[in-house]
Order: sequence, then C-alpha cells, then structure tokens
Amino acid sequence: MRRVRVRESVAVTSIRATILQTPAADRLEVSTDRVVRVEAGRIVGIDATGDHGGHVDVTLPDDVVLVPGFVDTHLHAPQWPQLGTALDQPLDRWLFEYTFPLEARFVDTDLARRVWDDMVPSLLRHGTTSVAYYGSIHEDATLALAEACASHGQRALIGRCAMDHPEGTPEWYRDGGPREAVDASGRSIEAIRALDDALVAPIVTPRFVPACTDAALLGLAELAAETGTTVQTHCSEGDWEHGHVLERCGVTDSVALDRFGLLRPNTVLAHATHLSDDDRSLIAERSAGVAHCPLSNVYFADRAFSARRAIDAGLRVGLGTDVAGGPSPSLLAQCGHAVAASQRLVDEGDPAARIDTTTAFWMATAGGADLLGIDAGVLEPGRWFDAVAIRLPAAAQWDDDWPSRFERLVRLAGASEIERVWVGGRQVV
Ligand code: GUN
Ligand code: ZN
Repeated sequence: MRRVRVRESVAVTSIRATILQTPAADRLEVSTDRVVRVEAGRIVGIDATGDHGGHVDVTLPDDVVLVPGFVDTHLHAPQWPQLGTALDQPLDRWLFEYTFPLEARFVDTDLARRVWDDMVPSLLRHGTTSVAYYGSIHEDATLALAEACASHGQRALIGRCAMDHPEGTPEWYRDGGPREAVDASGRSIEAIRALDDALVAPIVTPRFVPACTDAALLGLAELAAETGTTVQTHCSEGDWEHGHVLERCGVTDSVALDRFGLLRPNTVLAHATHLSDDDRSLIAERSAGVAHCPLSNVYFADRAFSARRAIDAGLRVGLGTDVAGGPSPSLLAQCGHAVAASQRLVDEGDPAARIDTTTAFWMATAGGADLLGIDAGVLEPGRWFDAVAIRLPAAAQWDDDWPSRFERLVRLAGASEIERVWVGGRQVV
C-alpha cells in the first residue's frame, strides 16, 4: 500500500459564526450567531450562541460568514496548465490541437505531481472542498492525484480517463483497445481504494461516446457495477457531440449511455445542454444528474443549459468549472455565470428558465454534494464539516438585510475574500 503524507492541520471542534446556506434549490437559510460543534470531522450540533455554555475554538468576525464548502462536479485535472488559454477552437479541434497533446504529457508522473501540488491548494483557496476529477489515461498520474488530494486535504472523486476509439482519439494518446481501457480503469480503482483515505474515492470515467468504442463503454459499465463505483462522462455537450452520437447509435446521448449501462445512480453527466424532455425523464429515473458548466458552455456547447428545467424534472444538478474548457477555477464565479446563462434562455423565449443566486449557490453546494453522493453541501448535524469562512464584499456595507448580502457575496466574492477553509473538520486554508 502506498503511504499518504499525514495531513497536518488543525481539527476544529467548535466555531461561532453566522451561517448562510441553501438547503433547498429555492431556499436561503440565514442562521445568525450559531456555534457549530464538530467531532471526528462531522457536525454533531449547531446551537444558538446563548444555548452554548462552553468554550469556543474559533469566533468569526462580524463581517465574515460561514457557508458550506463548494463542490466542483466537473474538472479535468491535466488541463490545469492550460487554464485561461487556448479557447479559440470548437470542441473537436480544441481536443486534438491543444488538449490531447497536453494530457499525453502526464505520462511523466513528476510533471503530474508538480501540477497537482499547484492545483489542489489553489482550488482549496477558492473554497472548493470537493471535486469530481477527470485524470489522464495514465494510472500513475491518476494515483498521484488521489495522493495529492489526500495529503492536501481535499475531498475528491478521481477518475482515470478511459478512451480507446481509433477515430475519436489520436494514436499517441489512447488506450490500446477496450480490454486495456477496462483493465487499466479497474487497476486504478483498486489503487485509489488501497490508499484507504476517507477523502478520496475512484469514479469510472469513459471520456465520452466519441472517444470510446462500444466494447469499452459496455465493459466500463460492467466495471462500475461490479466494483460499486459511480460513473462520470460527457453527454450531449454541443451540436457536434450530440450529432455524432445520434448518427453512430441512432438515439440521443442519454439513451445511448443508458443502453451501455452507464446511467446509474449518481452518474455525473457533464454539460447535457441538448437534452429532450424524454432524456430528462430517463436521467431522473436513473437517479443520475448533470454537472452544469455554464462558462465552458459559452465556448463549446452551442446553447445554454436550462438548470431550471433539469431541477424541475427531478435531476440531480451541480455546478462544474470544467477546467480548462472553462477558464476559471472558481465555483462562485460559476454561480454568476449560471444566473447569466439562465437570463439568456429567458431572452430566447423561456421566461420560466430564470434562476437566482440562491439556486446557483444551491447547485454549488447541496446540489453538487447530492449529485456526487457525498455527505456535505449543507451545514447540519451528521454531515462532514466541509465549510468556508468568507468576508462579505465591501459593497455589502450598503445592505440592511441578509438576502442582499448573500447576493453580493455570491456575485462579488472570490478567493481574496476566502479566509479559512475546512474539510472534514480540518482547516486546510
Ligand atoms: N468532451 C470530451 N472531452 C472533453 C473535455 O476535455 N472538455 C470538454 N469540455 N468536453 C469534452
Ligand atoms: Zn469536461
């Protein structure tokens, strides 16, 4: 078994703060002056300050609030060195010209470790306490990513990216065939589980239908079922991908993934901008959901995703940065982009599509945690204490009420307002 460096950080036992959170998609909950008690990484109680007689370990200042940690439901780890660049091509050309060549370099595990040791702490500083990561095809780099998350103290699902299609991938960056795609993914699951760290778990990751053969997709679905592992993949991202699957499989991407056996409880479908009503019903029936990546969708998706329709249809929905197709690592920034994307749908004739900052924040926290199947996203007894202390933006001085301060916080705060971050009760920033 590989050894993971023991995390050295302070385990909080009680913290006094005002809590802002969104336990439901349309509900902002404000709890002023509370004491959160934490034991073994989980919240054991939240008391009004007057009811809490004893000592408090941390008291947040009046202009700093406590919120649940942010959950990034879709991020490509080996694209981190490309963050903020190379967005001048449509998806298919972007993959072959920029992204596959970059990901192929992660055969060098030392490079991978250097990237992970920059990326994971940076994401934590943005308040991202949980991530569903795509790795590269390389088992060693993928295991090193799990080790980096464990040692820096970030909760993560980590998927070795499987891709074997001779036309959908370049010959210098692909699995040797469906057998290798499945076997290497199986070994990666075992290696990540052997770390035996409560923060990290594997996830089966067929890149998307165009990059995988039918045999690999079927084999990966069997692997997920046999090993009790969840699944992530891309689905109906833009006209090109959607059309490719329709032509190759004769059905929509959602139906095709279901026929391969990949639509399972908590399957994370990235983007899913081109869903029909029937697709939505199917995804909801399977207890799966969507990683909504609103900024990336501007570049690659050809249309905006309707979070409102997805939520109303009963899908699980979280937010994703889609680094580096999305050029920002900030989940708070994604909240603003999600609201703006919904406004675009309103302008295009769907007046019911509007979402507000409460719904966006819910996707970034409770919705994302529900999608990934992790016990976080809401600060309440029984869940992990994954939390962020954020200073209210200066403009909040003009507000007399908490809903307005919250709205400012979601739209205006960034990494520089984030003062402390905890994951599983340990302070990691
Ligand atoms: N579809 C398949 N691979 C990718 C990727 O790396 N980024 C995005 N945005 N879409 C994809
Ligand atoms: Zn993606």
